[in-house]
Amino acid sequence: MGQLVPPTVPRISKFDISLAFSKALDMVSPKIVDHQKRVALISAYLAEEVALDGFVLSMRERHDLIIAGLLHDIGAVSVVERLSILQYDTQENDHATNGAKFLRKAKMFTSIAKIVHYHHQSWRDSAGASDGSLSVPFASFIVRLADRIEVLIDKSDLILNQVGAIRSCIQAGAGRHYHPVLVDAFLRLAEREAFWLDIVSPDLDARIKRKMSTRRRVLTVDELLDIAHMFAIVIDLRSEFTATHSFGVAATAGALGRHMGLDETHCRLIEVAGYLHDIGKLIIPQAILEKKGSLEKDEYNKIKTHTYYTFSTLSEIPGMREISEWAAYHHEQINGQGYPFHLPGEMLSTESRILAIADKFVALAEDRPYRKAMPEAEVIFEMRNFANEGQIDKDIAALLIDRFDDIDAARKRAQGKETKIINMLDLKQNKPRKQPEFA
Ligand SMILES: [Fe+2]
Ligand SMILES: [Fe+2]
Ligand SMILES: [Fe+2]
Repeated sequence: MGQLVPPTVPRISKFDISLAFSKALDMVSPKIVDHQKRVALISAYLAEEVALDGFVLSMRERHDLIIAGLLHDIGAVSVVERLSILQYDTQENDHATNGAKFLRKAKMFTSIAKIVHYHHQSWRDSAGASDGSLSVPFASFIVRLADRIEVLIDKSDLILNQVGAIRSCIQAGAGRHYHPVLVDAFLRLAEREAFWLDIVSPDLDARIKRKMSTRRRVLTVDELLDIAHMFAIVIDLRSEFTATHSFGVAATAGALGRHMGLDETHCRLIEVAGYLHDIGKLIIPQAILEKKGSLEKDEYNKIKTHTYYTFSTLSEIPGMREISEWAAYHHEQINGQGYPFHLPGEMLSTESRILAIADKFVALAEDRPYRKAMPEAEVIFEMRNFANEGQIDKDIAALLIDRFDDIDAARKRAQGKETKIINMLDLKQNKPRKQPEFA
């Protein structure tokens, strides 16, 4: 069995976790790859340029702007929605309202939520500057323009061939769709080949990081938990059948840790892994996640990729290496037969074993597209079988069975809480729905 020493509190920044999440959201289709990152980079360029006209953003505002760019489409749950908002003249802006609702669930993202809320607001000769008594952040107009510049780019053609057409299209919207000062700033940027080559560079991360100051505040454990909690809602909403799964896994894993006597910070970090363990599911088409019948080989293979993408997404976040292993090894098995790494039992830490048990337990105890939730006796029977087959850790499984009522109550409370949060979000239109989808 792995170590039980409390891990050192990881040093993770809001920017780094946002960058990783942005990437995961944009992996859903090749047509969307890096859309939000490019919007973040164009926004940073616009902010720098417009400062020369006296519209100066503070360092904090620039940070928020870049993170808002990275996450501005977080409210579009399905691939269909994501593709529809890539049309230049899309009228769809429910995803902006929904995105702001998600982001407001984490305290650290409150100011970013406001920017995202209005990222489809047109300037309309300054009428767009306010929404009733509320003023629309200038940063929203930056993201608005950056977003439309990005969708005009044909990624299959040389960017410098497209400059004239993109300039004219944006110029035609000055004053009506876009803040005129920002259009002027863009026209100056558009003179420079380096601007265009930068925004289509395959190495966007480095370019975006250069636009951030080096001082990035490290998150406290509570802040990290709060952000993971918010992302879990987005992950779970990809399918109505998993709509509370991540909350259930986080609560079960945390409860197991507490019963094992792990210290509170350690348990909270395990909960972070629980909230994020299925982040790789963001790239699985909704139609497969919700399929009622048995899966075709190709579909099963697609589902199997999710833990790999959980690992690649989380392990890239500086400071997140350990948590990424706890989260991504939840389909590894003690007998070495799990996926995607086929790690032998000795390589699986206690925390990874806890997560694997929590994931299996919650999956059995909740409704799935192909079956109803199992009653307690059946759940216990299945968990015993998994332990006997060497799929999961015997001692931790025995603990779960021994403290079943207590742990199951914690799971139910957490899943009930997520249902309540989702209902209160009152998302517009794009609640998960069954629809043909492609990725
Ligand atoms: Fe967008
Ligand atoms: Fe999973
Ligand atoms: Fe899961």
